[in-house]
Amino acid sequence: MPHSASATEPPLADPPRGIRAAIIMDGNGRWATAHGVNITDGHRAGGDALHDVTEAALDLGVSELTVYGFSTENWRRDPDEIAGIMQLFIELVDREAPIMLERGARMTFMGRREVLGEEICERMRWAEELTAGGTNMTLCIAFNYGGRAEIIDAVRAAVAAGIDPAVIDEDDVSRHLYRPELGAPDVIIRTAGEQRTSNFLVWQGAYAEFVFADTLWPDFGKPELHAALVEYARRERRFGGRTSEVVS
Ligand code: FPP
Repeated sequence: MPHSASATEPPLADPPRGIRAAIIMDGNGRWATAHGVNITDGHRAGGDALHDVTEAALDLGVSELTVYGFSTENWRRDPDEIAGIMQLFIELVDREAPIMLERGARMTFMGRREVLGEEICERMRWAEELTAGGTNMTLCIAFNYGGRAEIIDAVRAAVAAGIDPAVIDEDDVSRHLYRPELGAPDVIIRTAGEQRTSNFLVWQGAYAEFVFADTLWPDFGKPELHAALVEYARRERRFGGRTSEVVS
């Protein structure tokens, strides 16, 4: 059984610096129900948690933090909920990009952008340009993102770039992912007790360690991130071989 990270554990040592982490931020709806507020307020609390966790990740020396903000499957939700998430996304980018700049961190996005409309695309470009020089950490928000769609888009882009489909290999696909400059995540954390990948980082997550936390996303903060990274660091990674060797 995987070990669940919990804020109730005894004090932990610092996790190693330079971890590439990804998070499936689950549980906003259950948090909203538990607090008697509407779903958009649940997602708003989720946005506040994202701020806190991003700050914590910087403090803990995380090098890349990729979070699942909106999936290609989330379009099936109620239109009011979707409209709320889109508005929250704009507010969040407006608020967080200057903070990322101040902290020397880069902000970027992955997913199919064009269907999100000009207002959101413009915010994404603004935030990416503003924070392009950040080297302390990269925060990547997966938005209108699906792992399978990303693989299809990568193969199409490789073919469009002139690569012979008969000889396309793993490097060709990796080089045509949405954010080829980001490495494969070392650890994928999922909150709110569910234990599935939900089409997140399907290609990049092939050798990721998974850490599952029971905490609902709006309640997830620095202690929970710290515990999840320490749990990851305890694992022995073999990448399909018999000894630990690094696969990017
Ligand atoms: C999952 O909770 C969360 C989402 C579908 C959206 C994530 C959004 C945020 C964290 C809000 C702010 C961030 C951005 C990037 C806009 P759920 O609604 O599936 O929870 P449930 O499983 O309890 O219903």
